Amino acid sequence: MWTTFDCGGLVDPDPTDGAWPWRAAIVDPEPDATVQYHVAGPRPTDDRKTPVETTDMYWEDRYAMNPRPFGEEPTGFIRDVFAAPAAYGIHGTPADTSILCPGDGYGRNGLWLARLGYRVTGLELVRSAVEDARTRVREDDCANYLPIQADLSRTPFPLPQGSGFDLIVSAWVHLPTEPDRRRCNTECLRLLREGGSIVIVTGALVTSAVQEADEWDPAMRWTDFSTPEEIRLIGSR
Ligand SMILES: C[S@@+](CC[C@H](N)C(=O)[O-])C[C@H]1O[C@@H](n2cnc3c(N)ncnc32)[C@H](O)[C@@H]1O
Repeated sequence: MWTTFDCGGLVDPDPTDGAWPWRAAIVDPEPDATVQYHVAGPRPTDDRKTPVETTDMYWEDRYAMNPRPFGEEPTGFIRDVFAAPAAYGIHGTPADTSILCPGDGYGRNGLWLARLGYRVTGLELVRSAVEDARTRVREDDCANYLPIQADLSRTPFPLPQGSGFDLIVSAWVHLPTEPDRRRCNTECLRLLREGGSIVIVTGALVTSAVQEADEWDPAMRWTDFSTPEEIRLIGSR
């Protein structure tokens, strides 16, 4: 059966509802009039309408229709944090700071951070978005941004051995099932260096600051900068 999504994109938390093998569900930070919610993964084989004819869409299709649906600018909270990182408890020079951006799309956030001088690795499920990001790297000659194709629900992430990061920056990524989110979070923590920080921005319609914090290790300390629309958290350990 189809799940109905409210404007902004509400996640059906029950992946066993029907035969659809949900793999990834995301809130669209800037939803357009007709498409508010997107999934990625194997397509349904029954007689349901195609995702494009409904309010649902696969991420692959979303990027095929519009390769850069969220524009070129980084999401606002990330721009604010990295305009004055010390004010948010983030220290270290960009050149000495490595960042992992899970679910980085075509790199509007990761590439922006790399242009500031940070050493950034982006992980993204959709091939075309990764290729778009790689093209931007070549065009910009921005060698400190590395986009890698990866499924966040499968761990370990396909990173060079010994990878460790000073920061995790996660923008508008909310995997649909709690086990996947916890697995992804555990892997991010494994990759985060001692004393590192995590920056999260996502939609208040699909999660809450309490739920987000709960899905990470209880040893994490969080500062909550959320607004009614956005969950904005910075955590450290
Ligand atoms: C709302 S978009 C945000 C993209 C980017 N962070 C930004 O703010 O522009 C969510 C992204 O997560 C990616 N994604 C969804 N499920 C994923 C998964 N299981 N593994 C990796 N990336 C995934 C989507 O393809 C999409 O690019």
